[in-house]
Amino acid sequence: MTRHIILDCDPGHDDAIALILALAHPNLVPLAVTTSAGNQTPDKTLNNALRILTLLNRGDIPVAGGATKPLTRELIIADNVHGETGLDGPALPEPSFSPQAITAVELMAQQIRQSSQPVTLVPTGPLTNIALLLASHSELHPKIERIVLMGGAAGVGNWTPAAEFNIFVDPEAADIVFKSGIPITMCGLDVTHQAQIMDADIERIRAIPNPIAQCVAELLDFFMIYHRDPKWGFIGAPLHDPCTIAWLLKPELFEAQDCWVGIETQSELTLGMTVVDRYQLTGKPANATVLFGLDRLGFVDLLVDSLRVYDPTYLNRR
Ligand code: BDR
Ligand code: CA
Repeated sequence: MTRHIILDCDPGHDDAIALILALAHPNLVPLAVTTSAGNQTPDKTLNNALRILTLLNRGDIPVAGGATKPLTRELIIADNVHGETGLDGPALPEPSFSPQAITAVELMAQQIRQSSQPVTLVPTGPLTNIALLLASHSELHPKIERIVLMGGAAGVGNWTPAAEFNIFVDPEAADIVFKSGIPITMCGLDVTHQAQIMDADIERIRAIPNPIAQCVAELLDFFMIYHRDPKWGFIGAPLHDPCTIAWLLKPELFEAQDCWVGIETQSELTLGMTVVDRYQLTGKPANATVLFGLDRLGFVDLLVDSLRVYDPTYLNRR
């Protein structure tokens, strides 16, 4: 079965790896790549998406840039994690093609409308573009099969004690998305912190003889730097965003529970918190499938096997 997907991302090291993982699998049909402001400024995340797709020789996929800031707040970026370019580490090609002369919302709407089957949205950055799409195109909701997003946490946050970065950057957008009624899969920190890539895994990737695997290894070398701080208690680096694609490809790797999830948009202390009702305490109906557990070795094997796809047959295709 093929699934039509739209990736809305803010590359970002783990966004880039999610993109690379997705495009290795022909059963995931990428209708568009759109970019959000988050890990870096909107001009840089757009340029990074174009550079990654250029590296993959996938200039056939339409790309558009999205909102330049969150719905009501000023933009916060994560250059402390992803560096000055947003993709520091490997030498990447300059884009060989241009973005579409329309906005991310217009491109998503166009592709959903034209799609022969319902579309799965895969946001791996702040949810600004997705919220704008849902708010401005209610007629398209029935054609959105699911939103598989990286964001939030049932436990502690990674940007504030209560909030994960993507949700914290635009909590009002997240609130719109979680209230939309569209099925959601939430890949939050509870599961992405289990998706750690270790030094030995990076060496497995480096041993794959193609330029995409080399690029991923170098992305991971840089991504490791921030996560080596002992305060996190990590052994490796958490591959947050690729969990979305891994769940689409192999849901059996994950443990999930349907829960009601609410977004805190008011409190100074807990702004951007995803309140996950794991024990059905509110009586509110579940609005998300929340991922809690992961077979880490299976996840790493999936990534490694996927990177082998990028041989000359793939990279030289027209
Ligand atoms: C999320 O924030 C970003 O830095 C990553 O790309 C990921 O989407 C993790 O909190
Ligand atoms: Ca991201």
